Amino acid sequence: MARYAFLRGEFVPMEQAKIGISTHAFLYGTACFEGIRGYWSAKEEELFVFRLREHYQRLLDSCKIMRITPKYSLDELCDITIQVLAKCGDRTDVYIRPVYYKSSETIGVKLTGLEDDFLVFAVPFGEYLDISKGLRCRVSSWLHSEDNAIPTRAKINGVYINPALAKTEALDDGYDEAIFLSKSGHVAEGSAENFFMVRQGRLITPPVTTGLLEGITRNTVMELAEDLGIPVVERLIDRSELYLCDEAFLTGTGAQISPIVEVDHRPVGDGKIGPISAKLQQLYFQVVKGEVPRYRHWCTPVYKK
Ligand SMILES: Cc1ncc(COP(=O)(O)O)c(C=O)c1O
Repeated sequence: MARYAFLRGEFVPMEQAKIGISTHAFLYGTACFEGIRGYWSAKEEELFVFRLREHYQRLLDSCKIMRITPKYSLDELCDITIQVLAKCGDRTDVYIRPVYYKSSETIGVKLTGLEDDFLVFAVPFGEYLDISKGLRCRVSSWLHSEDNAIPTRAKINGVYINPALAKTEALDDGYDEAIFLSKSGHVAEGSAENFFMVRQGRLITPPVTTGLLEGITRNTVMELAEDLGIPVVERLIDRSELYLCDEAFLTGTGAQISPIVEVDHRPVGDGKIGPISAKLQQLYFQVVKGEVPRYRHWCTPVYKK
């Protein structure tokens, strides 16, 4: 089936969606992006885009930090995305990648006096991490970027060198994922995921001021946990708590809810996927497919049958 992208204000076939080699964003990483999932519901024969507006609000926030002048409103961005998906006509889960970028073809590192453009495309997508067996993680030897070096609450393309280094180190050493510590030595996040642990029945996650991305899945999980009566605490997490917690998992649009079973060769809890992680994971997969009426407003239908 033909695939379409939106680039330079037009819907174009994917194979024609190209940018020049001297594009500023390519040369300097001066762009910001989102990762959004669409979930196919076989039951309803519908593709549901999860928390579309929240992702585009975060993209607009990233634009503000990056001095990108958005030419489309929140509603227009959502609408363009739904049109791209409708044109592609997928009947499977998809991953959507919108990018606002410095589109001038020019040399010179700065953020102002440049043109900005928006593009979006989508690809069929399965699991990003193997969520069935639990992840083996290592604490990264790479420190996490700091907000006053490269703003961490914006999803800036150039910042992804930091997670790419950490993830590659973890994979090279035989692990599945990396866990970043901040400069102060506290747990920050995974390579492209937020971190949660369970201790004595409480769900604990680092505060957003630890220099991490304000994850939309993180927010979703916190709401679902409260619904399930699981107390949620935002506080700093020490490295040694990674070794003593009862359960741990990573959250993200790609990772969804990915349980961790081992950190630095120490089993998490008894080394199996814990009950709170499993419960949240089960509810999450119902929610994203539009099966929970209370959260149906988070799911934007593409085909509206
Ligand atoms: C660095 C980083 N942290 C956390 C997340 C999780 O964010 P979200 O749940 O909004 O996808 C991501 C993925 O987007 C990420 O790249």
